[in-house]
Amino acid sequence: MKTCEKTLNINMRVAVIGAGVIGLSTAQSIYEQYHSIISPLTIEVYADRFTPLTTSDGAAGFWQPYLYDKGNVQETKWNKETFDYLLSTLSSPECVKMGVFLQSGYNLCTEPAPEPSFKDTVLGFRRLTERELQMFPGYNYGWFNTALMVEGKSYLPWLMEWLEKRGVKFYQRKIESFKELAESGADVVINCTGIRSGELQPDPDLKPGRGQIVKVDAPWLKHWILTHDFSTGVYNSPYIIPGSRLVTVGGVFQLGNWSEQNNSIDHKHIWEEACRLEPSLKHARIVEDWSGLRPVRSKVRLERETIKTGATSIEVIHNYGHGGFGLTIHRGCAQEAARLFGQIVEKKGKGPQARL
Ligand SMILES: Cc1cc2nc3c(=O)[nH]c(=O)nc-3n(C[C@H](O)[C@H](O)[C@H](O)COP(=O)(O)OP(=O)(O)OC[C@H]3O[C@@H](n4cnc5c(N)ncnc54)[C@H](O)[C@@H]3O)c2cc1C
Ligand SMILES: *[C@@H]1O[C@H](CO)[C@@H](O)[C@H](O)[C@H]1NC(C)=O
Ligand SMILES: *[C@@H]1O[C@H](CO)[C@@H](O)[C@H](O)[C@H]1NC(C)=O
Ligand SMILES: *[C@@H]1O[C@H](CO)[C@@H](O)[C@H](O)[C@H]1NC(C)=O
Repeated sequence: MKTCEKTLNINMRVAVIGAGVIGLSTAQSIYEQYHSIISPLTIEVYADRFTPLTTSDGAAGFWQPYLYDKGNVQETKWNKETFDYLLSTLSSPECVKMGVFLQSGYNLCTEPAPEPSFKDTVLGFRRLTERELQMFPGYNYGWFNTALMVEGKSYLPWLMEWLEKRGVKFYQRKIESFKELAESGADVVINCTGIRSGELQPDPDLKPGRGQIVKVDAPWLKHWILTHDFSTGVYNSPYIIPGSRLVTVGGVFQLGNWSEQNNSIDHKHIWEEACRLEPSLKHARIVEDWSGLRPVRSKVRLERETIKTGATSIEVIHNYGHGGFGLTIHRGCAQEAARLFGQIVEKKGKGPQARL
């Protein structure tokens, strides 16, 4: 391992706040990297919502970042690490329970655009041919590639079972302050609270990006279709993403709106636009609507902070603000959060309490 070879006889209690894809995968990466070198290592997960009620459950579960990373190569790297990790699980029978599978499709643009930052991560990326473009009136540019699905409704239960088997404990409760975890004996707090992070410690850079989707029964659809309209912004134009059972149809992206209610006007707008893109949807049975809040931030917050509470201080690792690509980036961020945890272990290992 990176920090040391032998077992560190130090007591580490880790409290993860959040049981969405970010919290659960971070708990998994910390366990994987440290259970054999720290003894005892106690990991607890606190959340007021568990699967199937988190944002991560409602999301389509499609692996694709925003088209452009705008120079944030760090996030492109975490996205790629996640893609490569998920791709590697396909050779294991576990991938079915994990909700991971390959799927190909189209990214469509209304005007020529530079190649996306993820072009070398996905499989078989290429420009669309004239014949392909003829299938999509109104779009005159785009790409085809194979990507992955990682469906939260399967992946989250799989992660929880994985953690439970290894002794991780889950507590359903709302955390009002870091202090209450410090007082209950946690050495390190991992902050994976998604959009509601701001309740614990205000973060003006974190905003909800409200999304609404329609899930339909249309098993004849085998390819995802995402449209990009640079005048309306990301995910504010039609997309169709077939899942293992249902097809997800979107979309809207309303920055600053905190409502998790379904809206009938949004429903009508999403449905009409999607039927124009894929007329066969008119034969699909509508199963349900769902609305959720993307934790939008200028970039993911993934860093350490030491917070003083009275006489004691507590180590916090923040891992939130994954916008509309939390499933796409989760594993890279979880591995990075675990590395930050390693820095804290190293510091503690050198401290007076350590008995090596
Ligand atoms: C319509 C829509 C479609 C999407 N589609 C995709 C997609 O196809 N692919 C993709 O990669 N991403 C997609 N996303 C984005 C993705 O859903 C998010 O980025 C991701 O779910 C964020 O994960 P998270 O674990 O940070 O948050 P969440 O899943 O929201 O989990 C947050 C957790 O923190 C807990 N929590 C928060 N505050 C407290 C507190 N004070 N005390 C206790 N617990 C607390 C909650 O109970 C919950 O367990 C979509 C989002 C939307 C809205
Ligand atoms: C998590 O981060 C958010 C945003 O900064 C903050 O409001 C909240 O207090 C943090 N939670 C903890 C437990 O540190
Ligand atoms: C937010 O969304 C809800 C539900 O769609 C809607 O009723 C409300 O008008 C919106 N609020 C704002 C400020 O846009
Ligand atoms: C949105 O609609 C679905 C059914 O289509 C329902 O299950 C869900 O509870 C609704 N959400 C809200 C917040 O009312």
